[in-house]
Amino acid sequence: MRTIQLAGGEISASEIALGCMRINGLSAKEAETFVQTAIEEDINFFDHADIYGSGESEEVFAKAVHMSPAVREKMILQTKCGICQSAGDNVYFDFSKEHILKSVDGSLKRLHTDYVDVLLLHRPDALMEPEEVAEAFNILHSSGKVRYFGVSNQKPMQIELLSKYLNQNLIINQLQLSITNATMISNGINVNMENAGAVDRDGSVLDYCRLKDITIQAWSPFQYGMFAGVFLDNEKFPELNKKIDEIAKIKGVPNTAIAVAWILRHPAKIQPIVGTTNAARLKDICKASTIELTRQEWYEIYSAAGNVLP
Ligand SMILES: NC(=O)c1ccc[n+]([C@@H]2O[C@H](COP(=O)([O-])OP(=O)(O)OC[C@H]3O[C@@H](n4cnc5c(N)ncnc54)[C@H](OP(=O)(O)O)[C@@H]3O)[C@@H](O)[C@H]2O)c1
Repeated sequence: MRTIQLAGGEISASEIALGCMRINGLSAKEAETFVQTAIEEDINFFDHADIYGSGESEEVFAKAVHMSPAVREKMILQTKCGICQSAGDNVYFDFSKEHILKSVDGSLKRLHTDYVDVLLLHRPDALMEPEEVAEAFNILHSSGKVRYFGVSNQKPMQIELLSKYLNQNLIINQLQLSITNATMISNGINVNMENAGAVDRDGSVLDYCRLKDITIQAWSPFQYGMFAGVFLDNEKFPELNKKIDEIAKIKGVPNTAIAVAWILRHPAKIQPIVGTTNAARLKDICKASTIELTRQEWYEIYSAAGNVLP
């Protein structure tokens, strides 16, 4: 597994990270085998959130790895806070100091650890008071509970606003990105055109994050729409699958590896967060780290997904 450097080289992470959102669907035994497979594949970066499985996913993970100081120091743990669920499953966002501190304490308890490497703010809270976030981050950092901070689903001006008040650099922005959800790439290709690809939905977040040395993490790298399903082997995407299968054959890897290699090929050094809970599939996906798409292959896949080049 190739590695990428985060936080200006202070963290050396596997270029593919394991997303643990769905891990609560596994039995204790299955989870143990599955996480062991990830470790054998040299994945050292694990993405969590307080809300995954209503907290259950963090617990299932900690039990699966038999968390201990020796195990803990070999891995990079990231969690997120800020999405809340009230009775009746209504969702709201909360970046208050009180909520951030309480959420981290809950995650540490469930993960059986006394620190996380990275804490992300999960989804922008319209009612955010940046001063309060800064206070929370200062407490978490100085107490040693959180080493680094980042955001998720934020655009450049939101990061700028928050950064004005923070004493720590934001090192990560986790965003939705797959071959079929590539608007952050398309708007840079179609500058000033009248087509749909030109629409800038994110304030040029890709260029901004590169300028600021913020690593973009790609969530849901196999999904189309918002959890609408997987585009691979899906009859809704005949051209795309034909092209991916053709390149998979040339490279001698499964189609899952091509979907991830397409993200890895981007020079922004984007870190895909893969969410499979299937050990065999995970091994297939990790083959992405053994190949590199040519420029032509990358563009062919992009176009086969229905993206139009000007
Ligand atoms: N920051 C955010 O707002 C945000 C939002 C969503 C997710 N995330 C993070 O991103 C991670 C990944 O998200 P995700 O799980 O939606 O991503 P994903 O890797 O695109 O999807 C994985 C899901 O697709 C299924 N799947 C079926 N066929 C597949 C195939 N051929 N190849 C790959 N997967 C296939 C998997 O099932 P099997 O388990 O059977 O393989 C699994 O349920 C999450 O775990 C979480 O850590 C972050």
